[in-house]
This record gives sequence, structure tokens and C-alpha cells, in this order.
Amino acid sequence: MSYLKSDREGAQLLDKKDKLAGFRKRFYVLPDTIYMDGNSLGLLSRDAEEAVCRVINQWKNLGINGWLDAQPRWYDYAEELGKRQSALVGAMSDEVIITSSTTVNLHSLVGTFYHPFGKRKKILADELNFPSDIYALKSYIESRGGHPDKDMVLVKSRDGRFLKEEDIVKAMGEEIALILLPGVLYRSGQLLDIAYLAKKAHEKGIPIGFDCSHSVGAVPHYFDQWGVDFAFWCNYKYMNNGPGGVASLFINKKHFSKKPALAGWWGYRKDKQFEMSLNFEKANHAGGWQIGTPHLLSMAPLEGSLNLFYEAGMDKIRKKSLQLTSYLIFLMNDMGLTGSPYDYTIGSPLEEKRRGGHVAVEHDDAGRINKALKNRGIIPDFRFPNIIRFAPIALYNTFNDVWQVVHALRDIIDKKEHESFRYERDAVI
Ligand SMILES: Cc1ncc(COP(=O)(O)O)c(C=O)c1O
Repeated sequence: MSYLKSDREGAQLLDKKDKLAGFRKRFYVLPDTIYMDGNSLGLLSRDAEEAVCRVINQWKNLGINGWLDAQPRWYDYAEELGKRQSALVGAMSDEVIITSSTTVNLHSLVGTFYHPFGKRKKILADELNFPSDIYALKSYIESRGGHPDKDMVLVKSRDGRFLKEEDIVKAMGEEIALILLPGVLYRSGQLLDIAYLAKKAHEKGIPIGFDCSHSVGAVPHYFDQWGVDFAFWCNYKYMNNGPGGVASLFINKKHFSKKPALAGWWGYRKDKQFEMSLNFEKANHAGGWQIGTPHLLSMAPLEGSLNLFYEAGMDKIRKKSLQLTSYLIFLMNDMGLTGSPYDYTIGSPLEEKRRGGHVAVEHDDAGRINKALKNRGIIPDFRFPNIIRFAPIALYNTFNDVWQVVHALRDIIDKKEHESFRYERDAVI
């Protein structure tokens, strides 16, 4: 960290050395704005736009023939993109499919893996998990005749920010039928040791899956090497697949023979799907977990976006992402923002290997400071009650962006700018 300097030249020097700097111009960077919200909705790239326009043109020119005549064919576009994304997450080419939404994939996979029997009836998750995941898990427990609270074990956080892997392992008791954890925690940005947790779960004979919405696209994954049973993630965050863009799921090859809980005709083996048999014959790969007709226009951006990821290289993306978040933390400390009178707290792991792609900055007045930042053209996001999340994205943010954000955090307090805003929660914050 000694190479970091808090003056503006320090930021400029880092930008000059940045090997990924050229990718910024491939994105529609919002004018007069510093965008730090790529962990909620990634920006549009020209490559993604091109892919969507191509599909629209195919629709215009081919009509229904696009299913077989478009290149790539619409008929197996989800498989094709799954194959292209698989290398990014350390999976075999047929272990990933682009389908549905994150929460629907969660339902589908939990339904596949959750088979309460005898003493093993409970699902293990954690109290910092994303609410949608917990709602889905509880609904599954109820649908299998269990009690949504008594049959749900939520590992407690010792400090409200982080989870200890040892606490999770301790909770892997004989009554646990399934484990679902986040790869990266959506508030603090803590990266869990996925390989270790998967190993421990398997030693106890428990299937384990991960919600990797906040890790795919920010952190390299090695699902097969880690022995993860299943995973799913949003593509509209770090993968820049667009608002409501189609999500992904990974299912380990050793489970291909399992039954999808939410069967549908698009999960049918491709060569026979249009025979319209009433007996479901599942495709023998991740594609078997599809349900209905793929949302072509909401997955095409991923095609363009994936090209950028492979061009840049996931290791380089991770390296720069860590440099950006470490730089942000360095500036916060070096400029005295973590002490009085600023009183910001870094609510993310300081150790790089435990950090995902964003930094959580905590403050008692975070709601109003967030509004003051937006008023200055800085877009982070606010998580009630006291967290402002900053996600400097390796492919389109600069070190100068980070420098300006931290200076804005200082100026807002110095000038009491936040005091002119009323704290009111907007619908989407
Ligand atoms: C960690 C995590 N899981 C699940 C979801 C839900 O995703 P979706 O609304 O696409 O189902 C989100 C959405 O932000 C999320 O951040």
C-alpha cells in the first residue's frame, strides 16, 4: 500500500498504469456522472448494444425463422451463451445455462436439492443473506411440510457485517438437508471461502449451493474445482446484461440426472422438444433446468458483454477491482475520513482475499449523504439504514473516479451539504 498517494497525481499515475483503461470507451459512461453502482446495474457496453441490435434485426428480417436461421440460432442461444460463460466461472461447457431470473433459479435448484428425510429436514443459510433467498427457502420448507422458522437455520453474524466460516461449519449438523450461502455478501462485500465451505459440507454429506450474484464478474470462480453442487447469479450486475437481464445457473455435472423442480418444455432434450410428447425427457445438462421460452432480447447483451470479459481476462479484472477498492479504503483512512469529525466506517473486509467487488462505507447519516452524492453526480447505492456501497468497476471506472468520490465524501461533511436533504427512502435504494 506504500505506493499509494492521496494527491490527485497519485490517482492519475494509477490511471496511466492501468492496463484495462482502454475498455472504458467501450461503455456508455454516463456524462458528468461518476457511476459506482455496477454491483446493482452494470452499464451498457457498445458490444452488448450491438448484440441486442443484431437480435432485433434478426427478428425484423427473419420473423419466426430466427429460431433456426439466426446466427447463433435462437433455439439454442441460451446453451450457447451458457457455454461461453462457463469458462468464466470454472465450469464445464454444459454446466451453465442462461435462464430465468435469479430468484426463479433459486426456486428451481432448491427444489432439486432439498429432500428432507428423517432427521435431516433443515436448510442452513445465514442471517445476512439477501431477503429474496430467505423468502424462497422458507416457501420451500413450507411446501415440503416443514416449519418456515423451525426448519431454517440462519448462521448468526458476530458483528452484523461479516460471517465466520467456522461458525457456518459448526452449524452443519446432522439435521441439515441443504446449505445455501452467498458467494459475496450483498451488504459488506465479504467474499466467503467457497472452496472450504463446499469441502466441509461434503464431509458431512450435505449438498451446498451458492448465490453468486455479487461475485460473478467481479471475482474468478472455479465451481468444478471447488466441488460446488449448484450456483446461480444475476447477470445485470457485474456482467452488464441490462436491467432485468436473464440470470444464470450452474449445476455440477454429477447432478445432471436429478429432476428439475420446475420442469418446463424448454428443459426438454433439444432434439425431441418439438415432438410435443407429454412425457418429460429432460436435457442431460444444465439446459434441463430451463422452464419456458428464453428471453432473447434480455440475454443478447450478455453475448457482447462476455466478449469484453474474455478480452480483458478475469484475473486482470479481479486485480484491478481490488486495486480500486483498496485505493478507496486507503484514501478514506489517509484523508482522515474514518475518524472525527467525518466518522465514516469501512464496513468491508480490509483483507483483499476476503473482499468482493464493492466497498461498504457506513455512516449514521448515510441516507442523506447518499442524496448529497447523487446531487453531485455520483451514483453509489444506499442500503438501509447506514451503508453506502461503492463498486468501482474494473472495465469502466478509473482511479480518478475513486479519488473524486472520496473527496466528495469529505466535502459533503465539511460543507454540511447533506443537511439540506431530507431523509426519505425512495422506492429503489
Ligand atoms: C444476492 C442477490 N440474490 C438475489 C437477488 C434477486 O434477483 P432477482 O430479482 O433477479 O430474482 C438479488 C438482487 O439484487 C441479489 O442481490
